[in-house]
Amino acid sequence: MGFKRTHTCGALGVEAVGQSVKLCGWVHRRRDHGGLIFIDLRDRWGLTQVVFNPKADSPLHAKAKELRPEFCVAVEGKVSVRPPGTENPKIATGKIEVAVDRLKILNPSATPPFEISEEAQVSEELRYTYRYLDLRRESLRDRLILRHKVLEVIRRVLSEHEFIEVETPILTKSTPEGARDYLVPSRLNPGKFYALPQSPQLFKQLLMVAGFDRYYQIARCFRDEDLRAERQPEFTQLDLEMSFVDEEAIFALIEKVFSAIWKEVLHQRLSTPFPRLTYTECMERFGSDKPDLRFGMELVDLTGAFAATGFRAFREVVESGGKVKGLVATGGAVLSGKAVDALTDAAKAAGGHGLVTVRVTEKELICPVAKHLGEEALRKAAAQAQAKNGDLLLLVADKPEAAASVLGALRTHLASTLNLIPQQNFSFSWVTDFPLFRFNPELKRWDSEHHPFTAPREEDLPFLEKDPGKVRSRSYDLILNGVELGSGSIRIHQRLVQETIFRILGLPPSEVQERFGFLLDAFRYGAPPHGGIAPGIDRLICLLTDAPSIREVIAFPKTQKAVDLMTGAPSEVRQDQLKEAGISVVKQNRGV
Ligand code: AMO
Repeated sequence: MGFKRTHTCGALGVEAVGQSVKLCGWVHRRRDHGGLIFIDLRDRWGLTQVVFNPKADSPLHAKAKELRPEFCVAVEGKVSVRPPGTENPKIATGKIEVAVDRLKILNPSATPPFEISEEAQVSEELRYTYRYLDLRRESLRDRLILRHKVLEVIRRVLSEHEFIEVETPILTKSTPEGARDYLVPSRLNPGKFYALPQSPQLFKQLLMVAGFDRYYQIARCFRDEDLRAERQPEFTQLDLEMSFVDEEAIFALIEKVFSAIWKEVLHQRLSTPFPRLTYTECMERFGSDKPDLRFGMELVDLTGAFAATGFRAFREVVESGGKVKGLVATGGAVLSGKAVDALTDAAKAAGGHGLVTVRVTEKELICPVAKHLGEEALRKAAAQAQAKNGDLLLLVADKPEAAASVLGALRTHLASTLNLIPQQNFSFSWVTDFPLFRFNPELKRWDSEHHPFTAPREEDLPFLEKDPGKVRSRSYDLILNGVELGSGSIRIHQRLVQETIFRILGLPPSEVQERFGFLLDAFRYGAPPHGGIAPGIDRLICLLTDAPSIREVIAFPKTQKAVDLMTGAPSEVRQDQLKEAGISVVKQNRGV
């Protein structure tokens, strides 16, 4: 018996009853019942129950006794209806079973280090070491299949809009996106290194100079940075760029792509256009540049209520131009004293100096510093913030942006603690008008808020050299449920403007020439106005599938320490390889 199957394990239903079929797959479960042996045979498409009957074929039944979980087998037999009461409505093939008359063990399996099931509690270390077994689980399989479908929709919609997919180099020069580079030594050029791209940013701009007009790529990016739940050292972007466009054209295109994904993959309608908010508005209302709009709880400016307060901590802030900002946690008065204390710690972790809490009850406002703040001021603040009986009002006094971002962090924390976030809701927004630069107090210099190729707003050009902090950029972020899903901008396409930006960033002309000379040169040859964006595919799939981390939507992810536990990468290399590349390794004792 060969292993040419007639059906997959997810295909058979009552219409196939009476047919002879051949199936291949893995032993998912084995149950022995009153002489009969039942096997759930599994493949990518599903599960089919196959049965061995000792009365029909005793040697075959004896052979089936050898079967253990994860054996790879082929079976041949007849499809029959399951006896009444034994159907399984949870699976597509739940009405039938296959009475086996031939069995071939294609490959036995060692006892797996963990059970292949959704329920098994398995450490991440074990799962990643045996990722090929982990990937046999339904949830991971489904996420990767969904990922494939999303990419299919993206490719189709962009092709319909006359985009072409172009591959750009992986062995390249540093592309600044704010992380460290991964370096690759060059054997043919000893002592020299390629950098893996942090994004295809400069190549896509050069494709616009080349006249391709509409480019996209499902692009792999590499960044050596500290990893978190939504970060991996290598990840995938839908990278795209267009010529002769403004922000609106890019927003409209992305809204079309996402609407198609939601329609075809989730069968849901997205409402477009997505709301647009400026950076300043976001910070004032939500204390974050990636606001989660699935719930309200907007920040309120209560500076006026405390203008004449006797509470020194607040008065000093107000007198020096700061603000008192408030946040009403709906129903937050139910939080225990301990939970409220924990909020102060969370405020400090978010960079705050302190937090004042006010419990709102029917009769009174309970606040540890009520006396200092003044009853009148408190009542005024609670009224202005529209705090109701049962709510918890939080107050932070600080520099305006600092007060907002502390409350912004508490806003998301509290909304999830108090279960105020509607699940299964998708709330997109565009954030625009970011500052072009941010001052880096440690290095005492201006850094790009997005990347150095972002165009400044035309009307802010006069401030470029005089007051860089005042210049707004033409960048935009795409936000979904409080996560930055993508970033992009209209780019600089004029050499002089680009040179000015490098100068403000403090890059010496020789370094500019060495690192970006090719781009500046390209701008001399009729570079068209252009712009683009790069939504992160891993983050998108993670949100679409409600996965706990982007590691769960990547086939072979790395750990928080950037290690691939399955292959053991990164690893030491042979002496002769190092010698060929002209590298000698200095052993470092990192004290770990
Ligand atoms: P940016 O650096 O903001 O922009 O990245 C765009 C998007 O890529 C995703 N992303 C990541 N996903 C997983 N792990 C990471 N370490 C990681 N870093 C970024 C995010 C992010 O929003 N070249 C510009 C885009 C442009 O201007 O067109 C860029 O790369 O979803």
